Amino acid sequence: MFRARCLLRALRSCSSAPCPRHKPSAKLSVRDALRAQNTSGERVTVQGWIRSVRSQKEVLFLHVNDGSSLESLQIVADTTLNSIVRFCMAVPSEPITVLDFLPLQDSGFVHIHTPIITSNDCEGAGELFQVEPSSKMKVPEENFFNVPAFLTVSGQLHLEVMSGAFTQVFTFGPTFRAENSQSRRHLAEFYMVEAEISFVESLQDLMQVMEGLFKTTTMMVLSNCPEDVELCHKFIAPGQKDRLEHMLKNNFLIMSYTEAVEILKQASQNFTFTPQWGADLHSEHEKYLVKHCGNIPVFVINYPLVLKPFYMRDNEDSPQHTVAAVDLLVPGVGELFGGGLREERFHFLEQQLARSRLTEAYQWYLDLRRFGTVPHGGFGMGFERYLQCILGVDNIKDVIPFPRFTHSCLL
Ligand code: 4AD
Ligand code: MG
Repeated sequence: MFRARCLLRALRSCSSAPCPRHKPSAKLSVRDALRAQNTSGERVTVQGWIRSVRSQKEVLFLHVNDGSSLESLQIVADTTLNSIVRFCMAVPSEPITVLDFLPLQDSGFVHIHTPIITSNDCEGAGELFQVEPSSKMKVPEENFFNVPAFLTVSGQLHLEVMSGAFTQVFTFGPTFRAENSQSRRHLAEFYMVEAEISFVESLQDLMQVMEGLFKTTTMMVLSNCPEDVELCHKFIAPGQKDRLEHMLKNNFLIMSYTEAVEILKQASQNFTFTPQWGADLHSEHEKYLVKHCGNIPVFVINYPLVLKPFYMRDNEDSPQHTVAAVDLLVPGVGELFGGGLREERFHFLEQQLARSRLTEAYQWYLDLRRFGTVPHGGFGMGFERYLQCILGVDNIKDVIPFPRFTHSCLL
């Protein structure tokens, strides 16, 4: 089967009736578009991949799919589109793999089981636990997988592959970081919810999903298990209920990394790490910024390129040179979400990989762009940090029954 990596904006039911001007068109998944009734005269946008084309004398029949339905949406188009469509269809594609997926009916995200053992270091930070058989006798060759293998630091790259077929995907699984840290917010093994979304072109769109995820999940926790939450609030964090309601009822704030550094520089507080443009934001900085924002969660966007991994999208704003990265900082914890737009442009990504000396290892990732991709982005949220945030628990080791950290792997 061909998978044309072509963005198609399909205007449904617009051919006979004039489309209302200036009215933003509703964005529908293929599944919702197929189910939609009474849309005559309404302008809708459907984004997906062209699976097949049938050319008739006067019209063109295009079958568009975005992974939300086995059935494709048939678009009747003018034959003038023919040459564009044929060009896109000629682009080679990789075979579609069968997977075990769980469609989440309400949100339209497909659950992907991303691997725990992997050969990539998604974050490029070298914080990897290596996986090898305990007995060298079992596999006489150099190593079990023929390549060095590690416990995953993130399922993002696998999600990026799958978002190329299913548009909106997520994973929720154990994640491992060999960080030599005894801090109150770092574990060697934690759970991460990660989402990846195709056709996302702005950080604004991504931040909306992040804020929605935080607020909806929190409201569900509060309404489904009020006794548990109240118990924690009463004995561990008095006043936390009001702090949480304050977070839920306010719109999250947005500031750029550059603005954040300016605020920190003007702070009366003495920091252990002096804030300066181009340096990482530390926990003390993040906590200060959230307080400065009245204890409302704040998105910090557009970080310097040098601080973020190779996959972040270049903002092309020299001389500063930032990337479209976003972290969500929350009261009491600091960074809860990390994400951004992915570098979908082949030559930019090639340069980034060369800069990070990863070109050889990431040929498969470059191939996703070489054969065409669409703008996309995603994020990850640490589950234990989320619990810390809503329950008001100061130390991450108190929200997990078997915490793993440097020098500690009991049981
Ligand atoms: O910011 P991080 O490193 O982002 C990623 O891994 C991206 N690849 C995610 C994506 O875009 N799909 O990690 C995401 C979140 C952090 O914001 C934090 O909440 C949590 O994972 N996290 C940790 N939680 C506990 N202990 C650690 N050592 C953690 N490292 C990250
Ligand atoms: Mg991060």
